Amino acid sequence: MNRPLVIGNWKMNLDFVEAVHLTQQISVLLKNQPSAHTDVVVAPPFVDLRSVASVLEAERSNVALAAQHVNPHEAGAHTGEVSQAMLARLGVTWVLVGHSERRTHYAMDDAVVAATLSTVVRSGANAVLCVGEDESARDDGEYASVVSAQLASALAGLEEKSRALVTVAYEPIWAIGTGRSAAPEQIHEMATVLRRELTALGCGEARVLYGGSVTGENAAAILVEGGVDGFLVGGASLKSDSFVAIIRACDDCYAGLANRR
Ligand code: PGA
Repeated sequence: MNRPLVIGNWKMNLDFVEAVHLTQQISVLLKNQPSAHTDVVVAPPFVDLRSVASVLEAERSNVALAAQHVNPHEAGAHTGEVSQAMLARLGVTWVLVGHSERRTHYAMDDAVVAATLSTVVRSGANAVLCVGEDESARDDGEYASVVSAQLASALAGLEEKSRALVTVAYEPIWAIGTGRSAAPEQIHEMATVLRRELTALGCGEARVLYGGSVTGENAAAILVEGGVDGFLVGGASLKSDSFVAIIRACDDCYAGLANRR
């Protein structure tokens, strides 16, 4: 198992005052009991990034900063969009790429996902490529081929030196925000498929995360039985207690597994 990674995706929640508050709470909890084995990242809305970065710096926190999206173009006439260089300037070191909400509601097709991923890693930032099937692909038994195609299309043109910057998040759409997490066996099956494909694409070292209704209660079982390296967390990342509970579950599992080796 790789060193665990937990990313909080705040989506379009929390204004900058609320974001500062949550960041302070997370920082205090992690200062009182540091996470020895787990890397932690938060992904606030664009308008909160500067404030959250200031709190993390003031608290000397190890929590890293992610953006939820970026435009693949360098600059210019892209009203409403934000560039990778702008994010880098704010201390953003991670970017979510191709979250299903962007793919479904904002016309982000596979070509745009690939261009965005390439922009992020070329700048030296870490990219979290989100993949996952919808309910009908799951019911039809097409899930593995759908997800493999998403992966191959995003990673095909990637330069070798950028591959170490890729993390993959398996997020079945039917499990996101529904309270209906995928079962550990389903996650294990897909994590195995993803690791095999990643190896074939030259990204065998990439961490594989799971996302979709992860909570402090189900995190440990998914991590151990699902065979993933951590989580992309939506709803449960909006409260410090539940977010930190997921981090603690990862820490404990990793320490337990390490002791058994
Ligand atoms: P959820 O969201 O944890 O609320 O299901 C996960 C995600 O969309 O990244």
